[in-house]
Amino acid sequence: MSDADANSTDATPRGALSTAQFDHNLVCDDAVRDPYQFFGSLRDTAPIHWNTRHKAWVVTTHELVTAAMRNTNLTADRMEPFRASVMRQTNSAAVDETFRILANWMVFLDPPNHTRLRRLVSRIFAPSVVRAQTVDIQEVVDSLIADLPEGRPVDFIGEFAAPLPAIVIAKMLGVPPQDRILFKEWSDKLTSLVFGAYDNPDRFHEAARGMLDLRDYLLGMIEKFEVAPEDNLISLLLEQEDGDSLSRDELISTCTLLLFGGHETTTNLITNGLLALLEFPDQMNDLRRNPDIMPMAIEEITRFDGPARSMVRLVKEDHEFGGIDMKAGERVFLVNPSANRDPLVFDDPDTLNLRRNPTGHIGFGFGLHYCLGAPLARLEADLALSAVLREFSTITMAADRSELTWNPTMLSRGLKSLPVVLGRV
Ligand code: HEM
Repeated sequence: MSDADANSTDATPRGALSTAQFDHNLVCDDAVRDPYQFFGSLRDTAPIHWNTRHKAWVVTTHELVTAAMRNTNLTADRMEPFRASVMRQTNSAAVDETFRILANWMVFLDPPNHTRLRRLVSRIFAPSVVRAQTVDIQEVVDSLIADLPEGRPVDFIGEFAAPLPAIVIAKMLGVPPQDRILFKEWSDKLTSLVFGAYDNPDRFHEAARGMLDLRDYLLGMIEKFEVAPEDNLISLLLEQEDGDSLSRDELISTCTLLLFGGHETTTNLITNGLLALLEFPDQMNDLRRNPDIMPMAIEEITRFDGPARSMVRLVKEDHEFGGIDMKAGERVFLVNPSANRDPLVFDDPDTLNLRRNPTGHIGFGFGLHYCLGAPLARLEADLALSAVLREFSTITMAADRSELTWNPTMLSRGLKSLPVVLGRV
């Protein structure tokens, strides 16, 4: 899901000379605007190859990506090389502490630490807990929809798709309404830190200070709910299970991961979903006429243009994978867009087909680290897109597709803005 990843640390040398090597910039305009075309052509010509610019293996077919996620010689534990490289450039205590917090994110852990942490946290995404959020999420959706203007261009992201998950996760954690704006700021800083601030030391320091403010705020909440539990995720996370419970550090880390994980990804799913429906009007009409297919539609949208652009692993030990000799310490990018449009797995993969039931898509990852928040993301996207389609009988883009700008990151696929004109005829 996140990380330090597009960043080249100097821990990863060379590449195997026995195989294809390219020097592509994986966040160049073409790759950012249309990763399907860009990585799709790599999938068809060099399914696994060494990228000399990013110093990483790039894996693009569905078969190899899912095999890589099962490969225990590839580790999710990849913070240390990044930390070491950043700490060589700064001796900031805030930055160091930030890395300590990130190091406890379960997405960066391998078994057995990952297994234990995931077991303790998974209870907050149990079906009954997520279902119980429906009324609250619907309320947030309705209030945001009520404020959307008609008949003039509005940024669907800024006014709807971004605030929705931010408010929902803050509310679920138990943050009172007056503090949610602070939370949103910290979360944005966290996003910039995790997704790309590494190229700018000032932004990095600022983001790290934001992380410490967030940590202190969370500590206050933890202390409060320890004494007087309420109906929220922090109180639930404080409970013991089979005599085990999260340490204070693990709780702080997990809350920051939930805040981060539950935020921009969900915004992008809702936005990419609306964009896909606008590009396939017959599909949008089908969905309007048959709202009960929404859960299947959300899966197809996640396959067709989901928010995950790549997942990252490090080679743990020298071994052979996919016919390649991999060396310990090398980085591996697992590319969701090309795997999710692999014609060997999905018929007519470049077409949005809401009724296809895309079993096997990896938009929420695969295997041990499969997205823990997927039930919540699905529910939010369902309620959000259902309400938008129900409420507005006309939705048109207020910009040409070629004018839309995508965020240039290796890990996520999201627009900067989506101008639309909404109407109730
Ligand atoms: C559409 C929205 C979302 C997408 C596309 C998404 C995608 C992903 C992906 C691809 C992974 C696997 C990363 C890897 O293997 O390296 C992941 C893991 C994770 N996601 Fe999500 N996510 C979404 C929403 C959420 C939400 C709403 C939450 C929580 C509030 C969340 C929490 C997590 C957590 C905790 C993990 C780590 C699981 C583990 O390491 O065992 N995600 N997500």
